[in-house]
Amino acid sequence: VSAAAREVVLPTYRVTIARGALASVGDVARTIAPAHRYAIISDSNVAPRYAAAVAATLGAESRLFTIPAGETHKTRDTWAALTDDLLAAGFARDTTVIALGGGVVGDLAGFVAATFMRGVPYLQVPTSLLAMIDASIGGKTGVDTRAGKNLVGAFHQPSAVIADPDLLRTLPADHLRAGLAEALKHGVIADSDYFAAVAELARNPESHLDSDGFTDLVARSVEIKADIVRRDEREGGVRKTLNFGHTLGHAIELCSDYSMLHGAAVAAGMVLESALAERIGVAAEGTRARIQQAVLDAGLPIRAPRAMRAGDILQATRGDKKARGGRVEYALPARVGAMAGAESGWAIAVSDALVREILI
Ligand SMILES: NC(=O)c1ccc[n+]([C@@H]2O[C@H](COP(=O)([O-])OP(=O)(O)OC[C@H]3O[C@@H](n4cnc5c(N)ncnc54)[C@H](O)[C@@H]3O)[C@@H](O)[C@H]2O)c1
Ligand SMILES: [Zn+2]
Repeated sequence: VSAAAREVVLPTYRVTIARGALASVGDVARTIAPAHRYAIISDSNVAPRYAAAVAATLGAESRLFTIPAGETHKTRDTWAALTDDLLAAGFARDTTVIALGGGVVGDLAGFVAATFMRGVPYLQVPTSLLAMIDASIGGKTGVDTRAGKNLVGAFHQPSAVIADPDLLRTLPADHLRAGLAEALKHGVIADSDYFAAVAELARNPESHLDSDGFTDLVARSVEIKADIVRRDEREGGVRKTLNFGHTLGHAIELCSDYSMLHGAAVAAGMVLESALAERIGVAAEGTRARIQQAVLDAGLPIRAPRAMRAGDILQATRGDKKARGGRVEYALPARVGAMAGAESGWAIAVSDALVREILI
């Protein structure tokens, strides 16, 4: 494990971020969530690369369950198959689940852990940047349904999170960039200096994979997300700030039929929503320009694809969980480093007419 190891302590678990940390999964599991047997849940891209290394740290009493990679498999069917497989393999109450993969595996394996035998412990071992800085933190687990994403699930906090940035070397480049969009988001929400550091790294992320740049980045993003989640475990208020870029981002992602990566759609969403924030007078002048430049330098999109119609995007925001009483709510920045809207529960309702103006 690198000397630059970092730890972020949450109320009920700790997050370890270090190059080489994968080798410590067994020790952490035996110390924090000891079990008779360990169920490693991973996907068809990650398992061939990393599951054997994790299994080796766990000893004889582990077994690998591999699901097909991709969001289309984050379903109740996959959950049912996994729980059936666990039962068929003789797993019982004395089980710890190890979620080894990106956010899809994290959400799904977390939901298996939340429900199997009415709940068993689990460790998050995130392998994508998005999972390291976002999906593995906060205890939200679940699956997608035909009616929409993440509509069935449970809050279930992991016993520990172990993030090894060396694993990012094999993550496809577009997924690395998509993850950086969420790191930029954390900077906008809470820390202007961090925003600048992410923007700098994002100009050439590959060149930082052999240094501790990503260790620092993951640690700071986890601190920011953890701090917000700690203040608001069930999304009553301040947790809404994490939705910056996501109201329009989700709408764009949906209108692309999910051909755009989530982080790419969120990047465009952040640029558009910061323009909206300036337009309605809650953001300082120059906020959008700074965000747009960083997004551009990161090779991420600054707007919706030209073929996408403003009316369709608006329509899609209405289906969003954040739509309340016919008006759509946005989490908007006051400037890079601070969010607006504390007095209205961190959500600012904006009329479609204004949103349409910034979309065209
Ligand atoms: N629970 C939460 O709070 C939360 C927050 C944000 C996102 N999410 C969820 O996370 C999911 C998206 O996560 P994601 O972007 O990690 O997607 P993902 O899990 O599909 O991973 C992206 C791709 O990269 C591959 N991959 C992952 N790590 C790799 C590695 N180290 N080397 C090579 N390939 C690797 C995966 O197999 C997959 O093909 C969505 O389902 C989203 O809803 C959850
Ligand atoms: Zn997101």
